Amino acid sequence: MNEKYDASMEKVKKYGQEHLLKFYDKLSKDEKEKLLDDILTIDLQQINKLYEQTKVEKNFTSSKIEPIPYIDKTKMSKEELEKYEKIGEHEIRKGKYAVVTMAGGQGTRLGHNGPKGTFDIGLDSHKSIFEILCDNLKMAKEKYNVTIPWYIMTSDENNKETEEFFKKNRYFNYPKEAVTFFKQGQLPMVDEQGKILLNEHGQIKQAADGHGGIFVSMRKNGIIYDMQTRGIEWVFIGGVDNVLAKMADPIFIGVAIDEKVQAVGKSIVKVSPKEKVGVFCKRNGKPSVIEYTEITDEMAEARDRNGELLYGESHALCNLFNIKAIDMFSKDFLPYHSAHKKASYINEDGNIVKPEKPNAYKFEAFLFDAFESLDNMAILRVKREEEFAPVKNSEGADSPETARELYNNYWKNK
Ligand code: UTP
Repeated sequence: MNEKYDASMEKVKKYGQEHLLKFYDKLSKDEKEKLLDDILTIDLQQINKLYEQTKVEKNFTSSKIEPIPYIDKTKMSKEELEKYEKIGEHEIRKGKYAVVTMAGGQGTRLGHNGPKGTFDIGLDSHKSIFEILCDNLKMAKEKYNVTIPWYIMTSDENNKETEEFFKKNRYFNYPKEAVTFFKQGQLPMVDEQGKILLNEHGQIKQAADGHGGIFVSMRKNGIIYDMQTRGIEWVFIGGVDNVLAKMADPIFIGVAIDEKVQAVGKSIVKVSPKEKVGVFCKRNGKPSVIEYTEITDEMAEARDRNGELLYGESHALCNLFNIKAIDMFSKDFLPYHSAHKKASYINEDGNIVKPEKPNAYKFEAFLFDAFESLDNMAILRVKREEEFAPVKNSEGADSPETARELYNNYWKNK
């Protein structure tokens, strides 16, 4: 064989992943190259460690959880709103503001055949989610006379299709030069014995490394540098799947500047104490998000003297960061969490297996784990009916149907 093959064989043997080379001889020249390159670049020691962690029971009791103060946009006076708006508008007009849309997820629950942003939620206009989001930027362009740079994070799995969709739709008439795509990182998936899976092409089966992979991938892809060169100070980072996301909200920026913080997160009041969402809190004195799996019933039900839930501010994945905070987050990987998923793979006999139940682990970082490296951040409570219409499931709650209704109700009064 060759040196590269020998080095790869040595590496897979060292980490107990020899099966990765089992079908090597059956691959084309290019496929062989790709497989060896992947084996040599992937940190197999890290993957083995992540697998070991899946067997350890999580222990949350060691952290000190407290409620976090929030600013309630829904109760602001006209004067307050104007004050924040003026501060934020000034920054937007000066070209100091950019938007990142995270669109690297798999959208498995929605089950749409294609990137989630290309999905038509059934509006009369049949606009895709990407176009709905882009409308925000087009309105801001008119209002503030500035073209806000739009960065779109994709993954290996959906980058090509996403870029093609934008081309086909002529960037929804937004200036093409203002739109930049970048790919997030990925990590191999492992089976329940810790063996890395091979996909149907005999290659390592990899999956996007979670929305928390954003900061490192912004650095790797030169996005932070690009923003710094353009003089960007404030960056809105949001998911692709909220069709009421306000992508150019001057009040958000105004709050950050007025509060002298490097990050602000939008919160939506929980529908009920038991709603399965992560909520903002303080963890060991630092801003954080506590997941519904971590919170006790007693905490979930606890209220302050005004009758508000103490842990009721759900994290809407709509956050604003100063570029300095992003630069700091990007220097280190966030911790990875494991998710038990269904994943097709090639078995020892070379046959494709399409499992009926979860058979593999996927490793993902969560964006909100970055909050804990800040001393402080502001939380801005906003109205669900004005700012939150997620498209997660194919039907029922948070589905195209509910998002469409929220969207139509909001815009019919505008
Ligand atoms: P979700 O956690 O809801 O995941 O992502 P998802 O991929 O959209 O859907 P499911 O869980 O497979 O059904 C919230 C946001 O974070 C982005 C998604 O694109 C979505 O905008 N995301 C998630 C990424 O950009 N990369 C990831 O690796 C994961």
